[in-house]
Amino acid sequence: MTDLAGIVAAIADEMRWEGQRGVVASYIPPLAAVPADKFGLALVMADGAVHLAGDADEPFSVQSISKVFALTLALGAVGDQLWARVGREPSGTAFNSIVQLETEHGIPRNPFINAGAIVVCDVLLGRLRPREAIGQMLRFVRELAGDDAIVIDDDVARAEQETGFRNRALANYMRSFGNLNGEVERVLGTYFHFCALAMSCRQLALAGRYLMNGGAVDGHRIVTENRARRINALMMSCGHYDNSGDFAYRIGLPGKSGVGGGILAIAPGIASIAVWSPGLNAAGNSQLGQLALERLAQRTGWSVFEPRMP
Ligand code: DON
Repeated sequence: MTDLAGIVAAIADEMRWEGQRGVVASYIPPLAAVPADKFGLALVMADGAVHLAGDADEPFSVQSISKVFALTLALGAVGDQLWARVGREPSGTAFNSIVQLETEHGIPRNPFINAGAIVVCDVLLGRLRPREAIGQMLRFVRELAGDDAIVIDDDVARAEQETGFRNRALANYMRSFGNLNGEVERVLGTYFHFCALAMSCRQLALAGRYLMNGGAVDGHRIVTENRARRINALMMSCGHYDNSGDFAYRIGLPGKSGVGGGILAIAPGIASIAVWSPGLNAAGNSQLGQLALERLAQRTGWSVFEPRMP
């Protein structure tokens, strides 16, 4: 029997001594102020068991991890019609890149790059006002995690708004191609508030249970089994931007990162995993988060590419 508690504690201990911790995001003051020595790890198992280590109960800015929940809500609202406006291919470019939008007529490669997530927000605003869409997101993650303490960090949302020039460029550019219906500032206001969700590793791992469990949590269906499988597939192929191939190679699990240093990873049928270390690699993904997940996948054999004997 795998000693999960021992593995989780050992990984957290190893991470404490790691020298190469990456660089903390500095584009807004509330992220720049986060100490680089933070590290949290949370596992929620299919049977409900929870394993925690380090700063697993400290909320951090989930940033682009919210793109998974936004995608889930948009698919719930418009189903497969979404795919007329957003692709399902890895971009091979940075999370905020604009280059492909020109040759691809304003259709973002996937829902996990910024351009794709902005279109996802626009889709949600087809039926809701920004305040309602933000409220829906907050209720959704609170319900998924079973925790009403989850909040949106207004300082982060405001700072994103003040500095989000490149996101404005992406939104305006897509609007010029007819792939954005709402007013740019309303769409971005929603997008920035989603990025500003603050959650701990424990809350994030709890919120990811529906993706581990084929779409249901405690007998309550969140999405169909098919949809859960497909969201996981997108996380595997696109969840780490131009680092997605390397993440699949090293870790072999669907995962989604954010520039706050968090990663949500799913071992389907086994565990929902959240890790947080604020230092980022060159692609904007958590340096130690990836290393910790690599060691976890190696020691548990949870990679989806591990042979499973019938
Ligand atoms: O929209 C942005 O550019 C930031 N709020 C960062 C989003 C993000 O996490 C991308 N990630 N790795």
